[in-house]
Amino acid sequence: MKTQIGIVGAGPAGLLLAHLLRLEGIESVVLETRTREDIEATIRAGVLEQGTVNVLNESGVGERMMREGFVHHGITLRFGGRSKRIDLAGLTSGRSIMVYAQHEVIKDLVTARLDAGAPIEFGVRDVTLQDLDKEAPRIRFRDARGELRELNCDFVAGCDGFHGVSRPSIPSRRRSEFVRTYPFGWLGVLVEAPPSTEELIYAHHERGFALVSTRSPQIQRLYVQCDPEDRLENWPDERVWEELRARLATDDGWVLKEGPIFQKGIVAMRSFVVEPMQYGRLYLAGDAAHIVPPTGAKGLNLAVADVRVLSRAFAAHYREGRGDLLAQYSSMALRRVWRAEHFSWWMTSMLHRFHDDTPFHHRLQLAELDYVTSSRAKATTLAENYVGLPLD
Ligand code: FAD
Ligand code: DHB
Repeated sequence: MKTQIGIVGAGPAGLLLAHLLRLEGIESVVLETRTREDIEATIRAGVLEQGTVNVLNESGVGERMMREGFVHHGITLRFGGRSKRIDLAGLTSGRSIMVYAQHEVIKDLVTARLDAGAPIEFGVRDVTLQDLDKEAPRIRFRDARGELRELNCDFVAGCDGFHGVSRPSIPSRRRSEFVRTYPFGWLGVLVEAPPSTEELIYAHHERGFALVSTRSPQIQRLYVQCDPEDRLENWPDERVWEELRARLATDDGWVLKEGPIFQKGIVAMRSFVVEPMQYGRLYLAGDAAHIVPPTGAKGLNLAVADVRVLSRAFAAHYREGRGDLLAQYSSMALRRVWRAEHFSWWMTSMLHRFHDDTPFHHRLQLAELDYVTSSRAKATTLAENYVGLPLD
């Protein structure tokens, strides 16, 4: 089997890259270990930056998002029992965010690809990358029927997330890795109840961080900071509500709307970057190359920014025989990645409780929150990073 770009992974990075390449007339094959049902049902991120919304719209896959997603012009920071709004639109000349679940983006991209008759191999196993430093790299895998197959490509796009095979296929002497793990995770729940708030609430509390988000007029998405090693059985529904009520309590009469919890999960948190994001004919994109803690809602958006740059570089290569954009891919992507790493680390540090917290540290966090919500300069810093810096 032969193609131009072999894409490993059908997450947002792999599927959007395949879609953007198809619009440029470039062929690709997407390989995914999981089933279509599984990738379309995995609950993850929910906040799309303006730039991400634009890419999805301009490439013709934004129609359902525009109908079913929610545009938000601000967020609330809650601390010391008070709520302070950050006017995202007012501070960024009208930019906003869209709340639309990641798995809905996945559904839209899978539908677009299959409708166009373009290939995705679901349920593959034993994926290995060969001859990445040669002219003609190959991907070996076992397909869903168990047959051994080989895909010959011009280039390989490693879009297989943090635990994939692409990054470890780069010899260790040819990559540098930068890591920070946090001593906490998030317990996320989906709740059958109407929104408690029109905009997202990020709450700082001495019992730990909490976040109120939404999915639809009937469903809320809520998070509480927890131990990253914690198990779901330690979080019966009543404990989830108790923590949410305590951490979100205000002095202005606001009430959290409650209802049946129908999905629960725990995510650990880390910051991670590999440099460079390229080796030979392998180009990494999305979580395969970098991870951010979710507090700034940047993970999915960074994946989109990477593949936008990468798809243009492939287009310049095939259309004009230019190699310069491919050569610059890693440094261009990393500039944005490190900005988002800093922002996500900063939001995380400002809002979470650390186990070595002292009253001194707690007071510093409150002083930072007070400054962010009272200084136009500092609020603008938060706002322009949150809605996303313009795409290259
Ligand atoms: P992924 O979405 O991880 O996609 C990679 C794909 O590759 C997967 O479908 C995987 O099955 C496949 N794969 C893996 N190995 C192989 C292989 N060997 N061969 C073929 N395919 C392979 N971000 C936020 O902004 N907010 C959040 O609330 C948030 N919550 C998250 C919760 C969880 C549990 C996780 C894991 C991430 C969360 N993120 C969140 C981050 C965000 O979802 C990711 O940044 C985003 O999914 C990155 O997209 P990606 O395509 O790079 O990687
Ligand atoms: C959601 C996730 C985030 O990481 C975040 O910062 C805001 C909202 C969400 O899942 O809705």
